[in-house]
Amino acid sequence: MRHWIVVPAAGSGRRFGGGVPKQYLELGGRPVIIHALERLLCSNPVALVVVVAPGDEYWQRLAGRDDPRILTAVGGAERIDSVRAGLALLAGRAAPEDPVLVHDAVRPCVTPDDIRALLAAADHPGGAVLAVPVADTLKRVDTTGRVTATESRAGLWAAQTPQLCRYGALVAALAGAGGAAITDEAAALEAAGHHPRVVPGRRDNIKITWPADLALAAAILAAQERA
Ligand code: CTP
Ligand code: MG
Repeated sequence: MRHWIVVPAAGSGRRFGGGVPKQYLELGGRPVIIHALERLLCSNPVALVVVVAPGDEYWQRLAGRDDPRILTAVGGAERIDSVRAGLALLAGRAAPEDPVLVHDAVRPCVTPDDIRALLAAADHPGGAVLAVPVADTLKRVDTTGRVTATESRAGLWAAQTPQLCRYGALVAALAGAGGAAITDEAAALEAAGHHPRVVPGRRDNIKITWPADLALAAAILAAQERA
């Protein structure tokens, strides 16, 4: 079955800080985003849309982005706006029933095996998402830092990307979605009444959010190369 990929890469990395957006920082000799793109392209999509910030010079100058399957769109203020822009570029190319994967540019350690496992769930009508069961003990904390409760971990999973959905259903769900609670595609699908399923992923598919995550990602990539 043919599929498409959208890679939101238009964020400015406020939590990470620094001058260069985190998706363009070097990781094991190559930019973070290049690792993600190479792994995604292994799944052989018809096309992969990278969604970048308006006037993004890092993307324009980036080496290794010359694969003919890579298209570029311009993103918006929130991640959901960027994903919408990427999907809009596929209008008239992707059929409503074609699967689309959405993957954050800042998850460079995703494995081709996990991408295959997710694509194998393409028949699920509500979409699918790579996720791992929550491992930490969860504390509810008030604004003064006082623990008010220990929450049960039972049935709690941490959602990763890629996330998968049929093109038509995803466009419709994102068109109706809004608000700060919609931080991933699955949340938009849920708000539209769908029930995405989880596909168990790997704990090393981390998102680079804070500076310490970059060294962690480097260690993960090195370990994956040795395995
Ligand atoms: N993203 C995007 N458009 C936005 C915001 C985020 O395409 N307006 C992308 C980021 O580039 C990243 C992914 O969405 O690949 C996940 O977002 P996150 O980790 O939150 O990155 P940033 O938004 O850049 O970081 P922060 O929230 O700390 O500012
Ligand atoms: Mg963000």
